[in-house]
Amino acid sequence: MRIDGYRPEDKSAVERLLHECGGFVPHEVTVCLSLLGDPEYETALVRDEQERPLGLVIYGTDPLAQGVWEIYWIATDGRCQRRGVGSALMRHVEESVGTRGRMILIETSGQPAYAYQRAFYEKNGYREAARIRDFYKPGDDLVVYRKDATARLYLEDPQWKSGSGCSSKG
Ligand SMILES: CC(C)(COP(=O)(O)OP(=O)(O)OC[C@H]1O[C@@H](n2cnc3c(N)ncnc32)[C@H](O)[C@@H]1OP(=O)(O)O)[C@@H](O)C(=O)NCCC(=O)NCCS
Repeated sequence: MRIDGYRPEDKSAVERLLHECGGFVPHEVTVCLSLLGDPEYETALVRDEQERPLGLVIYGTDPLAQGVWEIYWIATDGRCQRRGVGSALMRHVEESVGTRGRMILIETSGQPAYAYQRAFYEKNGYREAARIRDFYKPGDDLVVYRKDATARLYLEDPQWKSGSGCSSKG
């Protein structure tokens, strides 16, 4: 599976993918599109042989925490879901974060309609780490999933050996 970065010419194909993936309402698509090309975020795409995007992930690091990364958006073209595209993107994020992070977080809703997303995160080794009841609206919890980065890589990297939390930001 070929994975590389976002290019401006991908925008309309990505927009269509986000609308048709079955997971997002229009204003969520707008927010996701607004992050494309923003240097604060990292974006990776799975492409087919014709370079068309089949899946997309947008992730980034929390500037106020040490080595904490978050996956903000992940989506697979509705015509090729359950063929490993999403899992390949999750692995890509984990490899890309590498020694740069201690943990990767991803948020979702606790509603029954999101059971398959939660199954997807669980299958990829993410576990529920926190839950805020009624966050999105009454009866709709925010659930935070977490996966720890490779501890050995993290601990061996000199950049993490000194400083702690916000104090290390100087
Ligand atoms: C969530 C999503 C990115 C998964 O992408 P994908 O390419 O289908 O993922 P994979 O093929 O790697 O799926 C692996 C596992 O996820 C779970 N899963 C994915 N889609 C599922 C579905 N429709 N029903 C049940 N389980 C599902 C299963 O455990 C699946 O393993 P299995 O097929 O062996 O049972 C994709 O379904 C999607 O784009 N959804 C809409 C957007 C969205 O909700 N994004 C997350 C919020 S940011």
